[in-house]
Order: sequence, then structure tokens, then C-alpha cells
Amino acid sequence: MDTKTDILKKARQYEDANRVLSSERPVFHAVPPVGWLNDPNGFCAYQEKVHLFYQYHPYSTEWGPMHWGHSCTEDMIRWEDCPAALAPDQAYDQEGCFSGSAIETEDGHVLVYTGVAEDPAGTGVVQNQCIAIGDGTNYQKIAENPVITGSMLPDGFSHADFRDPKIWKDDDCYYMVVGTHDGKENGQIVLFAGKDLTHWHYEGILAHNENVLGGMWECPDFFQLDGRHVLICSPRDIKSTSYEFHNGHNAIYFLGDYDKKENRFTKGRPYSLDYGLDFYAAQTTLLPDGRRVLIAWMQSWDTSLIPLEQKWRGMMTLPRELSIKNGRLIQTPARELEHYRKNRVVYHNEIIQGEKSLDGICGRFIDLTVEIQSGSFQEFTIDAAKDEKYATRFLIDKKKGMIEIDRTFSGVIRDIACIRRAELPWAGDSMKLRFIMDRNSIELFVNDGERVLSTVIYTPLSAQDICFSCDGSAAVHIEKYDIVL
Ligand code: FRU
Repeated sequence: MDTKTDILKKARQYEDANRVLSSERPVFHAVPPVGWLNDPNGFCAYQEKVHLFYQYHPYSTEWGPMHWGHSCTEDMIRWEDCPAALAPDQAYDQEGCFSGSAIETEDGHVLVYTGVAEDPAGTGVVQNQCIAIGDGTNYQKIAENPVITGSMLPDGFSHADFRDPKIWKDDDCYYMVVGTHDGKENGQIVLFAGKDLTHWHYEGILAHNENVLGGMWECPDFFQLDGRHVLICSPRDIKSTSYEFHNGHNAIYFLGDYDKKENRFTKGRPYSLDYGLDFYAAQTTLLPDGRRVLIAWMQSWDTSLIPLEQKWRGMMTLPRELSIKNGRLIQTPARELEHYRKNRVVYHNEIIQGEKSLDGICGRFIDLTVEIQSGSFQEFTIDAAKDEKYATRFLIDKKKGMIEIDRTFSGVIRDIACIRRAELPWAGDSMKLRFIMDRNSIELFVNDGERVLSTVIYTPLSAQDICFSCDGSAAVHIEKYDIVL
């Protein structure tokens, strides 16, 4: 028997034998069947389903030799485990099948990934771009791999950090953006073009980091949206200078305009994609119905922590529909979530003065909207996943124009970041806060998606309460649904 396929077979057998019960996983967020998950990969509609692959190490809850795990969904809410798709089983990817993307073609479902291998010339590890083609379940790595190598880059560019291809097709030509750096740790995104999937040429640099936003730029994505172009990437090692970016791993975007002929992307200032504690390596796809949808790893390298007994680690955000408004990216939860809303509870014009809980406003699998009307107050707080021991706090400071998340009391047992602050200007008369809570996460969409804050919690499920508090007086509208699948 072929030992190369044995590595993938072993992974598939392992996940079958060790699959974590669905009652121990989030209900509507994608997670691995067992083991470690990081970046979303190959997020792509193929034959009536949306497929999602991910960086995967089935054998432990630690990062290890990278496989591609696989899930799929018909509505972006109910996720189904599929067998692992790729394993590090070739000379050109034996150190790992790193992140990448997918596209539907006439020849099948094409996965594009980074093969990591020892350089035969002895320079250390090199990263090259590779292709596998399949039918939605089984994928064959092609004989021409790797199809893009570091030798195609200009002199000086890193070959060791050259990864995370995102592919698309336009006017009969394939394009691919890839992250790398210029040899001096200035992250940059390079563009390749190919008439077919095996013959690529280097087109140039799409965006370059002038030593401002961290070092290497990982997981790029580049697409058209509402008449503009959007570049997304995930810089490592940012030193924050304001509340816009935090220290460490960030996921950012630039809006701009792209001159395809000249390959020139004129971009505006960078913004964070998400202001919560857990968000990295975002990737988008264009759905057949025209929606551009984003998904990300709802965790990050320095904050990835789980209860000791948990057998899976790492989850995805909800898929989010993207649009542009007032020069900013707007993100709203995939509308399919609304099909699963049950047990509506509504309060109109409820006055919050001091602390207050409201009958029926509680739960851990919920879609909760709180619209705070202008009142006379400085601070408004919402404690979620609360009981006498636990609470995750969202504090709106109207005067400072700031929001603070505090998950200190959410079951964390190591000294990872638990507090994050972000600017949140109080514009107009009210602020709308939509909280989507699943077993282990809270995603907060502010003002219909102008800002999003995603945070993982490991609070025991018995902590169900929600408590409001205001240092003055505020009128609120509240609407809550349980999410039931
Ligand atoms: C981002 C990343 C990618 C890489 C992958 C490895 O989180 O570092 O750049 O391909 O993870 O698992």
C-alpha cells in the first residue's frame, strides 16, 4: 500500500474513532471533529454546498504537522464533518500543508495550499504553492507540484515565509495573492497570474508594509465589493499605537481602488476587521447568490486556551456578509441564522437605572439585540454568561467613546489577555448591540455591523444570566431569540 495515502488514511481513521460528541461542541460554529484547528482554508461553494477546510492537527489539541480538515454546510449554520482532505505526505509538503484557498473549476474542486518542506539546498525550510483537485471529498495532489516556488520571486524576498495563497478567476485568467516579506520582515502581498492552474507568473507587489504594521503579513485576500477593492491580511507582531490595533496578531483590511492593467492598488488607511479578543486569518468567498461572506479563526496564536479536559481546540466565527458603508467594511451575521430563531422575548422602552435583569432575557445559545437610547449616563454595562461566579462584561463608556470587553470571569485559568478596549464613538441618539452567543463564544455586532467584537469564553453552561447596569438612566429596546437547530 502506498505510504503517502496511509498518512491521510490514518488521520481519517483517527478522527472517526475519536470524534467529539456534538453535545460537547458549539452548536452553530464550525469546529474540528477532534484536535487542533487554526485558519479557515478553501472557503468556497462547490456543488450546492459551502465547503470549509481548515488548518488541522487531529492527534492533539496542540498545533502539529498541518493537515487540512474539512466541513461543509448547506446554510452556513449547520456544519457537517467531512473526512480530512489533505495530509503532509509528499516531499514538497512533508513539513505541513499550510493555509490556502479553493475554487470550483470544470475539472473539479481545486485546492491551492502552501507546501512546507526542507530546502534540498540546505537553506532551511521553504514554502511553495501547490494544488490538489477533487470531488468534494477526496483530493489528488497534482504531478506538477509545486506550481509556484520562491525562485519566481524577485531577489531578496523571503522563501521561508511565502504562504497562504488566495485564488480567484477573472476574464479567463487565474490570479493568486500570496503573503511574504521583503527579507527585512516588512510584510507584503504579491500577485501571480496564470492562464491555467500550472503555469503561473509573478505580476508584482500588490501591497507592502513600510515597517508600520507588524512583520510578515499572513493570509491575504483580495476582492471587489460594492465598486471598491478590499485587501485583507493578518499581520504578525504589531506593536499597538492606539486602540485600533492590539499587540501581536491582528487581522486588518484596506479599502482601495485597483488598476488592473498597472497592477496598482491605491489603498486607504488600515482598519481592524474585528475588535474582540479572538479573531485571526480571515478569508472570504463569493457565494453563487452574489454575497461576499467572511469567516475567520475565532482565536489567535497567543490567546488559544481551552479547559484541560477538552478534546477539540479552535473554532470559526459565524460567516459574515460583507458590504461597504461610509468608507468602512460592514459585517453582518449570515442571514440564514434567522431561520433558527425561536422563543422571541421583547421589551420596549425599558428603563435601566442601576442594575437590572429581565424575565426571559438569558441563555447561552441566543441572538440578543439591545438598542440603547440616548439617556443621561456615562457607563452602560451588559454582563453575559453570568451567575454568582462568572460573567463576561461589555462596558460602553459613552463619554470616552469606548467599549471594553472583560472575560476575566469566564473560566480562563491561564494569564492570557482577558480585557480589550476599542474606540466606539457614540454617534446619533442610540447604539444597537447584537450579541450572538453559542456555547463558547460571544460575537457582538455594533450598529448593524459597523464594528464587530468576537470573544471566546469557557464559562460553564450553567452561567446563563444576563444583567444590565447603568450609572444614570437609559431607555432600551431588547429583543431576544433562542437559537435552536
Ligand atoms: C496563520 C498561519 C499561516 C500558516 C498557518 C500554519 O495563522 O501562520 O500563515 O499558513 O497559520 O498553520
